[in-house]
Amino acid sequence: MTLDIAGLVQEREGGDLVAPRGQLVPLLPAGHAALPEIVCGSSVDGLVVVGEASRALEALPRVRPEIMGGVKLCYLDPPYNTGERFAYYDDRRDSDAWLNDFKSHLEGLRPLLASDASVWVHLDDSEQHRARVVLDEVFGREAFVGTIIWQKRLTRDSRKAFSSMHDYIHVYAPAGPKAWKRVRNGLSDGGAFANPDGDPRGPWRSAPMTVQAGHATPSQFYTVVTPTGAKHEPPAGRCWTYTEARLKELVAEGRVYWPRGGDGKPRLKRYQSESGGLAPFTIWGASEVGDTASAKKSLLREFPSMAAFDTPKPIELLERIVGIATDPGDLVLDYYLGSGTTAVASQRLGRSWVGVERNADVVERFVVPRLVSAYRANPAGGIGLSRLG
Ligand SMILES: C[S@@+](CC[C@H](N)C(=O)[O-])C[C@H]1O[C@@H](n2cnc3c(N)ncnc32)[C@H](O)[C@@H]1O
Repeated sequence: MTLDIAGLVQEREGGDLVAPRGQLVPLLPAGHAALPEIVCGSSVDGLVVVGEASRALEALPRVRPEIMGGVKLCYLDPPYNTGERFAYYDDRRDSDAWLNDFKSHLEGLRPLLASDASVWVHLDDSEQHRARVVLDEVFGREAFVGTIIWQKRLTRDSRKAFSSMHDYIHVYAPAGPKAWKRVRNGLSDGGAFANPDGDPRGPWRSAPMTVQAGHATPSQFYTVVTPTGAKHEPPAGRCWTYTEARLKELVAEGRVYWPRGGDGKPRLKRYQSESGGLAPFTIWGASEVGDTASAKKSLLREFPSMAAFDTPKPIELLERIVGIATDPGDLVLDYYLGSGTTAVASQRLGRSWVGVERNADVVERFVVPRLVSAYRANPAGGIGLSRLG
């Protein structure tokens, strides 16, 4: 007997499912709204729920009790209420009705959030200003962290008075921006770290150990003697960053690098593990994280014969968001999953995730095949599917 999920055939043998890679996975009762079918792997680390967001938010704590207070990142890309009709969903609603649903979903989300969570809401000018007021009401004004402007298109739309080329991503952290900054990840500054001396603290790179002499104390002016006996004074207008006593401690701890075979001026080893990364800017360009056209193109390459999903977000954009807001193993939620970009990014980055999408056709055509291919590229973290009748 076979069970066919969007082209993925799993053979059922005496009560067990044989997953694509051949391993046996336990069979969960089919058709039970509360229990997921296994799509890939032998566990459910990522779960697609086919159903309405409101029902899913209510049912999820029963399916996965650990979700209560466990969601570290919620990324939301709802229909913007643009007044358009897309191939896979209708985006024409009364503004008040749109806001009511948006608010009631956020209220359902609140108890699921971890204390150090963040909620990212992606919108355009149709509702973003009204949605911000709702976000302030639900999470409190003090939870507002910032608004990211994402450059979503590069071509001009001459039919309009202004050719809008950006979306808004409002970021809220219920613990407040200061507390959230301590848990969020900065961006890589692109600098290379290496470990040529096998330092047990891991890869490092070096930085000069001098600063401008403006506020120096006398203890920052002295002659440094290198391991080879070379002598150095601080350059004109500068002093050593540390006093001689502190430099000796750093040398003893192995945190000082002496260039030119031990003859050069001391440099401080800065470790990758201690680097918090760069604070992200609030404007994200298409050249860094892709745009709508690049996201659509990449989906069309994957599914050339299918009617395009109109509004996918680029995988690079979601990987950046997931990378900033979570660490491996954290739980990501998206209850307007669409073609599944948040789930694919989370899967690729080793996060647990739950994605909710009410259009079963979208799940079968895009979400499941994209996830299966992410799983096959890196078979870690099993994937499940649950249908809320
Ligand atoms: C803008 S799309 C999301 C696109 C997605 N971020 C991607 O990269 O493909 C919004 C999706 O939310 C789904 N949706 C809208 N309202 C929903 C609801 N109440 N419950 C569940 N899904 C909903 C729509 O069917 C649509 O697929």
